[in-house]
Amino acid sequence: MSEMDYENRIVSAEFEQSENELENSLRPKILADYIGQEKVKENLSVYIKAARARGEALDHVLLYGPPGLGKTTLAGIIANEMGVNIRITSGPAIEKQGDLAAILTNLQEGDVLFIDEIHRMNRSVEEVLYPAMEDQALDIIIGKGPSARSIRLDLPKFTLVGATTRAGQISAPLRDRFGVILRLELYNDSELSSIVRRSAGILGIDIDEKGALQIASRSRGTPRIANRLLKRSRDFAEVKYNGVITSEAASDALERMEIDELGLDSIDRRLLTTMIKNYNGGPVGLETIAAAIGEEAVTIEDVYEPYLMQIGFLSRTPRGRCVTPLGYRHLGIEQDGQQTLL
Ligand code: ADE
Repeated sequence: MSEMDYENRIVSAEFEQSENELENSLRPKILADYIGQEKVKENLSVYIKAARARGEALDHVLLYGPPGLGKTTLAGIIANEMGVNIRITSGPAIEKQGDLAAILTNLQEGDVLFIDEIHRMNRSVEEVLYPAMEDQALDIIIGKGPSARSIRLDLPKFTLVGATTRAGQISAPLRDRFGVILRLELYNDSELSSIVRRSAGILGIDIDEKGALQIASRSRGTPRIANRLLKRSRDFAEVKYNGVITSEAASDALERMEIDELGLDSIDRRLLTTMIKNYNGGPVGLETIAAAIGEEAVTIEDVYEPYLMQIGFLSRTPRGRCVTPLGYRHLGIEQDGQQTLL
């Protein structure tokens, strides 16, 4: 494969990312504009200041937490605050050792390399990362069989920013090579409301305080969802409510999108009702639930479960998942399976 082909493949994730220009314009570029995640911001700003003062590259950073909380955004901010370039790729996009070697040898001094879904990188590729992270070196094997020999190339100093939905999925040798490990948390309603108002300002959307809070409280602690609901609420507001997202306009829009007062969508509700109707509320295994509702087990684990557990509707036990009494109550189903009259 020619170098140009490598380039095209490697940057494909980057293209996907920038395809939605609007989406990118919503991403804050500096730490001061990043709302929430106060502990993460505080620590990160110290590490960035210290590295800058020493004129060094920032140590490697691992960001983990549920999807949509701003891991890519933070990687962009790190690069920006360090005054360096960022290369964006993802674990599954790096198929072979040579793919990663091409990325690494094209980095400039101090650059940030962002690898999203780093837990999905295959083991042989991961092994190329170890000496790169530790010694800024790339070990290349030339030839095959008895005449094969290894040569070591020096790499520029760089900062690897890895992102994953769960730190537990990362192999110990890889995890140990990150100097900074930061866990992102779900956002509270007030933070999400600020994010919604900030985004509305950038997109030129008219929204009042109650409208923003209405969207925030139904966004499952996740900025990506809040921004999506903001855009869809604008559509309803423009067609039916003179263009202003009031509390009433937002409620109407969200109900029409089948998102309830707690932010559960039709899939969340189907997951819970299937568990109740088919498996008596659990305990039931993840794979069984996945097959029953036609979703991937990893999607259920990464996307649906964190919020359902956070609001206390779902619990994990050694024997499987269970719907909690709170979950039953929210769906209006009695625990013996009878529908209550709500
Ligand atoms: N957009 C998405 N996430 C954000 C955040 N944490 N702060 C500000 N704007 C955002």
